[in-house]
Amino acid sequence: MKVQSTPKTMTLLVSIMVLSLALFGCGTTPTPKASVSDPSASSQTPGDPAVARGLSLFNTQCSVCHGKNGSGGSGPRLIDKTPLASYVQANMPRNKPGSLTSEQVSDVIAYITSLK
Ligand code: HEC
Repeated sequence: MKVQSTPKTMTLLVSIMVLSLALFGCGTTPTPKASVSDPSASSQTPGDPAVARGLSLFNTQCSVCHGKNGSGGSGPRLIDKTPLASYVQANMPRNKPGSLTSEQVSDVIAYITSLK
C-alpha cells in the first residue's frame, strides 16, 4: 500500500499565510499618527524577532490585564485582533498610557497579531 503524501497540508499553510497578509494589509489603515511604524504592514512569521520581543514586553506589561497569551482578564481578550498602533501607543498599558516607544508598540502588536 502506498502512503499518501498530503500536498493539501502545504496548500492550507500557504492559504493561511496569504490570508494573514491580506488581513494585515487591509485591516489596518491607521490614522497618520501610526504611519511612522505600522508593523501590520509587514508580514509576520513565527520566527520574527519582533514577535519574540513583543512576547516579553507583553508578559511584563500587558498580561496582567489581558491574560497570558492575550486570553483575556480584566482587559479584553486580544486573540484574533489586529490592534492599531496609534490606539496602543495612546492608551496602553491602561495603567500607564503613552509609556511605550513606537518600537515597543510595533513589537507588541507583532506579537498580538501572531496570536491566532
Ligand atoms: C491595567 C490594565 C491593562 C493593561 C496593563 C493593559 N491593558 Fe490593554 N486594555 C485594558 C482595558 C480595560 C481595555 C478595554 C478598553 C479600555 O477600557 O480602554 C484594553 C484594551 C486594549 C486593546 C483594545 C482591545 C479591543 O478589544 O479592541 C488593545 C489592543 C490593548 N488593550 C493592548 C494592550 C497592550 C499591548 C498592553 C501592554 C503594552 C496593554 N493593553 C496593557 C486594560 C489594560
